[in-house]
Amino acid sequence: MNVLQGLKRRAGTVPWRIAATLARTRVIHAARQRRYDADRARHRARLPGLTPMVAEIVHGLEADGVFQTDLATLGLDGSEAMVAEASALVRRWADRLRAEARAGQEFLKVPPAEIAAHPAIYQFGLHPVLLDLAEAYLGLPVAYDGVNLQYTVADGRAVSTRKWHRDREDRRMIKLAVYLSDVDADSGPFQLLPADGPVADADGRHDRFYLDDREDREIDGRILGVHPITCEGVAGTVVVADTARFFHRGKPATGGDRAALFYSYFARVPQRPYFCYRSGLSRHDIAALTTDLSQRQRDAAAWRQRLPLPWRLIPPSRV
Ligand SMILES: [Fe+2]
Repeated sequence: MNVLQGLKRRAGTVPWRIAATLARTRVIHAARQRRYDADRARHRARLPGLTPMVAEIVHGLEADGVFQTDLATLGLDGSEAMVAEASALVRRWADRLRAEARAGQEFLKVPPAEIAAHPAIYQFGLHPVLLDLAEAYLGLPVAYDGVNLQYTVADGRAVSTRKWHRDREDRRMIKLAVYLSDVDADSGPFQLLPADGPVADADGRHDRFYLDDREDREIDGRILGVHPITCEGVAGTVVVADTARFFHRGKPATGGDRAALFYSYFARVPQRPYFCYRSGLSRHDIAALTTDLSQRQRDAAAWRQRLPLPWRLIPPSRV
C-alpha cells in the first residue's frame, strides 16, 4: 500500500514538473516575462490610491523588501477581535503542536478546519486596505492565498522555513505576518536579507531558492554581504515582506515558542500556480468564508478558479 501511495504521489508531481521544465525554455521564459511586464505596465493606471501609511509600507518593501509595523498603527477594524480568536486557537493547540514537533514534524500549523471555523481570521487578510497594499506593490490584481497559523517550537532546529530561502509562488509576493506571541532574538523572529542575489543562475531561467553551503555562512554578522533585517516585536507586531524576491527565514528559536499568522498574496496569475494554494482550505471553505464579501474580495480569494484552464489542470505540489 505504501509503495502504491508513493507511486501515486510521485505521479502527481509529473504535471507540474513538466510545466516547470517548459517554463525554463528560452522562448517560453522570455514570452512570459514580456507578458508580465506588459500586464504591469497596463495595470499602472488602475492601481488604487493609497493612504500615506500604506504608501510608506510599499516604499519600504521596494527599498528593503520588508517593513515592520503593528496592528494598532494599521488600525484595521476588527483586528483586536481577530487576534483574540487566533490567540485562543494557539492556546488550544500549543500542546498538540509541541507533540507533533517531538514526533519529527518540521512545519507546524493549526489545522485549516480551525481556520475555516473562525472566519474573522481568514477575512482579516481580505481587508480592502491590505488588498490595496498588495495590489500597489505587486502592480497587478491580487490573488489572496489565505492564512496559516504557524507555530515554531523553541528546539533550535534549522529546518523547513527556518533555513534561508525564497518563496517560489511568484516573481513578487507579499507575506504579511501578525505575531501572536512576543518575539525577541531567541524566539524565532522573521529575518530577511536585503540583498539582490543570487536569485537565478547565469542564464536567468533557473531560479535559485536556497543558498549553497558557501553562501549560507555568517561573516562578521553578514550573509550575502548584508546584515539580516531581524523583526523582533511584541504580540500584535506586523511584518510585511516580499518573500519571493528576497531570501528570508524564521530564525531558529531557542528561548521561547513563536506563534504567528502568515497571510499570503501574489498576482492573480502567479508565475508558478502549482506552488500556491497553501492554506489547506478547500474551494468550498473559501466560498463559505467569502460569501458576504465584496466582488473584489471574492475575486482575490477565488483566484484559482479564475486561472486559465491549463493551469487549473495541474495539481498543486505538496511541498
Ligand atoms: Fe518563506
